[in-house]
Amino acid sequence: MHSGIGRGQVVHAVEDISMVLPAGTVTAVVGESGSGKSTLARLLTGLIKPTGGQVLLDGEPVGTGARARRKYTSSVHLVLQDPFSSLNSVHTVRYHLERPLKLHTKLGRAERAERMRQLLERVSLTPAQDYLDKYPHELSGGQRQRVAIARGLAVGPRVLLADEPVSMLDVSIRLGVLNLLDDLRSGENLATMYVTHDIASARYLADCIVVMYAGQVVESGPATQITDNPAHPYTQLLLSAAPDPARAETPVLRGRGAPPSLVNPPAGCRFHPRCPFAMKVCAVRSPEPRPVGEDHVSACWLHASELDDDQREPLSATATGPAIGTATAATVAAQAESADGATDAN
Ligand SMILES: Nc1ncnc2c1ncn2[C@@H]1O[C@H](COP(=O)(O)OP(=O)(O)OP(=O)(O)O)[C@@H](O)[C@H]1O
Ligand code: SF4
Ligand SMILES: [Mg+2]
Repeated sequence: MHSGIGRGQVVHAVEDISMVLPAGTVTAVVGESGSGKSTLARLLTGLIKPTGGQVLLDGEPVGTGARARRKYTSSVHLVLQDPFSSLNSVHTVRYHLERPLKLHTKLGRAERAERMRQLLERVSLTPAQDYLDKYPHELSGGQRQRVAIARGLAVGPRVLLADEPVSMLDVSIRLGVLNLLDDLRSGENLATMYVTHDIASARYLADCIVVMYAGQVVESGPATQITDNPAHPYTQLLLSAAPDPARAETPVLRGRGAPPSLVNPPAGCRFHPRCPFAMKVCAVRSPEPRPVGEDHVSACWLHASELDDDQREPLSATATGPAIGTATAATVAAQAESADGATDAN
């Protein structure tokens, strides 16, 4: 922190994360506000430098020279939450699409015009002629987000980092943009990272889900597995907090405090001050990620079999508190022991 209260202190916004974005798949990153999702996306674009670790493209570390950086930035594109602020209000759609083509390609004027037409058609803004000379304020939110995505596709990126791309859009047009991302996954073979608060939309769109809490990954795995059979207490609480008209009980997460400060995060498991199942060990030792199913990993001491009775002691009177849905510590532990992680926690 460079100014204000806490000046000179370090924010551990993202720590100990290792993740892969395979081509042709959507990986959703979900978590509460402040969990480090945008920081992770910005690290992957190169907008901020990691204090440790590496970013690899095709298994190769990204070079530091100007040429390597240019190649990397044309391969990776970031789509932001607010399409209005990500487009320049004094320039037309034509300007936004033509600029990356001029900077990153050697296309002539006629080829650029054809490419711009194709790009607008790719994001379903047709006929292209109707949009090229419009300014951002003349478009709807969904249309602006489509222009921002088309601009990202201009130089044929291989990685699309979409940071809450639909959260500022009207509910009625969100689905259209999500379906566009879905279409681009297969059509352009893009490796997409979809950052969201909304675990329901992650299930709709993503192949895999990565759940972040306080700058770390607490659970990851196939999207259906994570939403149907969550192994980590935090994921279960997140799911219990998702809007569901069929659920009668109050979501449990809201009543269980707030995410911790990332200047001095809690020792041990960072979730222990809020966890209904916290045990003595959770307050002192950080849990390692463990497999709990096929390609399904969760970092929680409930999955460990090596703990003694003292370590398993509940941390406080509230630690065995409200069950999450009908899940209990016992069902989570049973799930971990089951070879395929298929025990139904709900
Ligand atoms: N430049 C910065 N200086 C100080 N703290 C920062 C900075 N950038 C991020 N943080 C802190 O790092 C943490 C993670 O922020 P980040 O924006 O990545 O969270 P997020 O998961 O994207 O949240 P949201 O869902 O609200 O967008 C937050 O506590 C934030 O206050
Ligand atoms: S049981 Fe312990 S390790 Fe698991 S989430 Fe709760 S506090 Fe963390
Ligand atoms: Mg964010």
